[in-house]
Amino acid sequence: MKNADYLTGITTSGTPHLGNYVGAIRPAVETSKNPDLVSYYFLADYHSLIKNHDPKLRKQSALEIAGAWIALGLDYDNCVFYRQSDIPEIPELTWILTNLTAKGLMNRAHAYKAAVAQNDEQGHNDSDKGITMGLFSYPILMAADILMFNARKVPVGQDQVQHLEMTRDIAARFNHIYKKLFILPQVVVDKTSSVLSGLDGRKMSKSYHNFIPLFDTQKQLRKLIMKIKTNSLGPNEPKDTETCTLFSIYKAFASESETQEMAERYKKGIAWGTMKLELFDYIDAILKEPRKKYEELMNNPSDIDEILKKGALKAREFSVPFLEKIRKTIGIASIG
Ligand code: TRP
Repeated sequence: MKNADYLTGITTSGTPHLGNYVGAIRPAVETSKNPDLVSYYFLADYHSLIKNHDPKLRKQSALEIAGAWIALGLDYDNCVFYRQSDIPEIPELTWILTNLTAKGLMNRAHAYKAAVAQNDEQGHNDSDKGITMGLFSYPILMAADILMFNARKVPVGQDQVQHLEMTRDIAARFNHIYKKLFILPQVVVDKTSSVLSGLDGRKMSKSYHNFIPLFDTQKQLRKLIMKIKTNSLGPNEPKDTETCTLFSIYKAFASESETQEMAERYKKGIAWGTMKLELFDYIDAILKEPRKKYEELMNNPSDIDEILKKGALKAREFSVPFLEKIRKTIGIASIG
C-alpha cells in the first residue's frame, strides 16, 4: 500500500446529515473513484470518546456513518476505508508524538480554549473543570491519524484548520529531532460547498440540532424541508437568494444552470410552498437509490464490518512497516 494522497476522518458521533454530504461525503466519493489517487477515509471512533460516553450511541453512529458513505457510492475497493480503532499503530504513534508536542501548543487549541472560556464565564474557580486529557490532547491523536499514513492532503472543514497547523508543527519537530520521516500535510478547505444552512438558517450542524438527516424516510425528509424557516414574503413578491436557506441548499445540489434558473424564479417571486416542494423533489430524487442501499446495509451490518476489516488490512500494509521504521528511528527496537 502507498502513502495517502488524500486522507480524512469522520468522528463517529451523531447521524449523517445533508451538510456532511455536501461538505465531506460527496467530494470524498468523487476522489475515492480516481484510479490515480490513493485516498484514505476512516471512522474516527477514538475521537468520539471525547464527548460521548454512551457505547450504544457510538456503535450506532459508526454503523450509520459507514453505511451512508458506502450507500452514497464510496469506491471502497479503490480507496482505503477503515476504522481508526482497527489500526493499533495509531495510538502507538500518538504516544510517540505526545512526547514531541509542546504543552503550550495544546494550550492554544481553539476547542480547549473555548472549554476554558466557558468555565470562566460560568464563574468556576477551576478553569479546567470537566476537561479531560482526551479533549486536551485531541490534536495529537489527529496528527497521528494523518502522519501514520504520511498523507499529503487533508480535506477538512474550516474548524479543523488549526489542527492541521499543529500536525505540521509536530511533524516538523519529529523530522528535526530524529530524522526526516514525515511529509508535512497540506490542508484542503473547500469554501464553496462546505457550509450548508440548516433548518434555522445557521450552519447545518449536529451541535445546533438544525440538521436534515440523509437517510430518514421520504416522509420525514419532506416534513423537515417544509419546516425550514423563511420570511413572510408572499407569492409574486421578489425574493432574495443570498439570505435564503432553501436556495443555499438547492444550490448545493443543483447544477449551475439549474441554480441560475431558480435565481430567476426568485426574482419573479416563486412562492415559498412551491420552492419547498421543488427542493424536496430534487433532493429526494438524489437520495432515492442510496436510501434503498442504506436500508439494505442497516439490515446487514456484518457486510459493513467486512468492508471495514478489509480496509484496515490495506491500511496496515502501510502503517505496520512505517511504525517499525519510526520505532527504529527513535531507538525503540530490539536491543540485541
Ligand atoms: N477532528 C476531525 C473533525 O472533527 C475528524 C478527524 C479525526 C480528522 N482525525 C482526522 C480529520 C484526521 C482529518 C484527518 O472533523
